[in-house]
Amino acid sequence: CGIVGYVGGQSALDVVLAGLKRLEYRGYDSAGVAVLADGGLAAAKKAGKLANLEKELADRPLPAGATAIGHTRWATHGGPTDENAHPHLDNAGRVSVVHNGIIENFAALRTELAERGHTLASETDTEVVAHLLAESYSSCGELAEAMRQVCRRLEGAFTLVAVHADEPDVVVGARRNSPLVVGVGDGEAFLASDVAAFIAHTREAIELGQDQVVEARRDGVTVTDFDGAPADVREYHVDWDASAAEKGGYDYFMLKEIAEQPKAVADTLLGRIDASGVLSLDEVRIPPEVLREVDKVVIVACGTAYHAGMIAKYAIEHWTRIPCETELASEFRYRDPILDRRTLVIAISQSGETMDTLMALRHAREQGAKVLAICNTNGSTIPRESDAVLYTHAGPEVAVASTKAFLTQLVACYLVALYVAQVRGTKWGDEIRAVVRELAAIGTQVEQVLGTMEPVRELARSLADKNTVLFLGRHVGYPVALEGALKLKELAYMHAEGFAAGELKHGPIALIEDDLPVVVVVPSPRGRSVLHDKIVSNIQEIRARGARTIVIAEEGDEDVVPYADHLVRIPHTPVLLQPLVSTVPLQVFACELATARGNEVDQPRNLAKSVTVE
Ligand code: G6P
Repeated sequence: CGIVGYVGGQSALDVVLAGLKRLEYRGYDSAGVAVLADGGLAAAKKAGKLANLEKELADRPLPAGATAIGHTRWATHGGPTDENAHPHLDNAGRVSVVHNGIIENFAALRTELAERGHTLASETDTEVVAHLLAESYSSCGELAEAMRQVCRRLEGAFTLVAVHADEPDVVVGARRNSPLVVGVGDGEAFLASDVAAFIAHTREAIELGQDQVVEARRDGVTVTDFDGAPADVREYHVDWDASAAEKGGYDYFMLKEIAEQPKAVADTLLGRIDASGVLSLDEVRIPPEVLREVDKVVIVACGTAYHAGMIAKYAIEHWTRIPCETELASEFRYRDPILDRRTLVIAISQSGETMDTLMALRHAREQGAKVLAICNTNGSTIPRESDAVLYTHAGPEVAVASTKAFLTQLVACYLVALYVAQVRGTKWGDEIRAVVRELAAIGTQVEQVLGTMEPVRELARSLADKNTVLFLGRHVGYPVALEGALKLKELAYMHAEGFAAGELKHGPIALIEDDLPVVVVVPSPRGRSVLHDKIVSNIQEIRARGARTIVIAEEGDEDVVPYADHLVRIPHTPVLLQPLVSTVPLQVFACELATARGNEVDQPRNLAKSVTVE
C-alpha cells in the first residue's frame, strides 16, 4: 500500500493526493484521505483507483487544511470496498490512521475493543489501531506517545501514519518491517512509503529505522524508538528528481522504462569496470578473504527478480565454480535450508521492501550466512538489513511489471559473478576478461534491439484474440522464457507458460495444437552449438504438431529460418549475457498485447509493485 502524510503551508489535501498518485504503483484497489480542518477531522474514501476518490472529492469537497494523510491500498484484510478503504477513524471521529502491512494479533485486539464498548465498522486490521490510538490519547494526551503505546501492543508488520483533531499541526508515523521515509522541507514535512511521493517538494529525506516513531511538524521532526528514547536517524539527499518519475512523453511508464534500458544498464555498469577490464566492487564491502571462503551461493528473490536470480545461477556456477541455488524467497525459510558462515546469500529486490525476500534474508543471517543485497532503492529495508549491497541504477521504476530493473538486476548479478571469479581466480580467466569487455558495451546491443521492435508489436496485435501463448528456452533462455510468460500473465491476462525446451517432450508437448503461438528463445549458434542444435530440433517438433513458431534468434543464425513462422533477430552476445537482449522483445510483446486487449499497462489488475506482506 502507499501512504502519504503532510503538514505545512500548502493545501495539505493537494499535496497528499499528488503524492498518492506517485504511489499508486504500490496498490490501487481503493484510496482515501483525511484532513484536519476547523478544529475537526474530515475524511473521504472510495473503492477503486485514485480517480474515483478524486471524483468523490470534486462532488463533495473536504474543507481545506494544513495537515492531511492519505492511502492507496492493496487489499489484505477485507475486500476492496469503500468501508475497508483507509483512513480508519475512531468512534468519535477525532483520530484517523492509515496503515500498510498486516497486524497479526488484530483479532484478539478487536475482541478486546468490542468488550470495552467500541463499535468497529470495517473488516480491516487497521481499524483496531484507530480505536487503540483514541484510547491511549485520552489517557496520555499526546499523539506520538499514544502511537508508541499502541505500537508496543501490535504484532506483525506495519507502517502507520495518524493524525488527531486535537493536534492540528502534527502527523505521527511508525514503522516495523514496512517502509516509511520522511521528507524535510522548508516549513513543511512529509511522511511517505517512498520518496517519490514528495520528491516534487523536497529532496532531503530521513530514513526511519525499525521500530521507530516519528512526529512531524512544520518546523522539524522528532524520531524515537517505541519506548520514547531518542533514535539515531540517517539523513540523505535523493539524487533523482521529479522528472525521473514522470512519463516523459510516453503513453505508459512501462514504455518509458523499456526505452530507458540502455541507460539503466550503462548506469549500473558505471564505475564498476576500469579501462583495463578489472572489476572493482569495493562498495559491496565483503572482503576478498571472505569471498574466497564462500563454498555455496544461495539466491533468494520473488517474481521477476527471481528470474534474474535463476539466470545468475548459470553465471555464478560457470564462472566461479561455486555451487549456487536459486530459490523463491517465499519458500526458502520454510524448508529449513542448510546455511552457515561460508554461505553467501544474494537477495535480489527492486523495491528492497518485498516481505518474502526480507524474511528469507533474515533467516539466512540468523543461520550465520552473509547476505548481499542487489537492490534498486537506496535506503530501503533489504539493503539496510544485509551485510552488503550492490545497487542497481535503474532509476525509479513505476510500472508494476518490471523491465529496466530486471535488466539491471542481471547486470548486477553478472558483476558479482565475475567479481567473485576475479577474486578467487578461476580457470576461465580469458573468457572472463572477454565477457567483461562485452558486458561493458552491452547497452549498445540493448539499444539496437529496441530499434527493431515494430514487427514484434505488429505480431502482438495480431495475436490479441488468442487465449494461450507458450514460451520455450534452454540454459539461460529457460528463465527468459519464464519471464516472457510472466510478463504476458501480468499484463495481457493470458494463459502463458514457460518451459525448459528439453522438458517439453515429457508432458507439455500435449498442449501444442494448431496455430498455438509458441515463442522460442534460441541460444547463440556459436560456441555451445550442441545447445543450439537441440533447440532447433525442439522447434521442429512443435511445428510438426501445428504450433505457430515465434523464434528469437541471433543475427546470422540461418538454421532456424526454415522453422520460424515469425523471426525476431537479436545481436550476438556471449551465451550467458544473452538474456540482456532476448528479454527485451518479450517485454515489448507483452506490453503491446496488453494494449491491444485494452488492459491497463502500468497498473494490471490485482497486482502491486511492492508487496510488503508475506
Ligand atoms: C511484486 C511485483 C513483481 C516483482 C516482485 C518482486 O510481486 O508485482 O513485478 O517482480 O514483487 O519485487 P522486488 O521489488 O522484490 O524486486
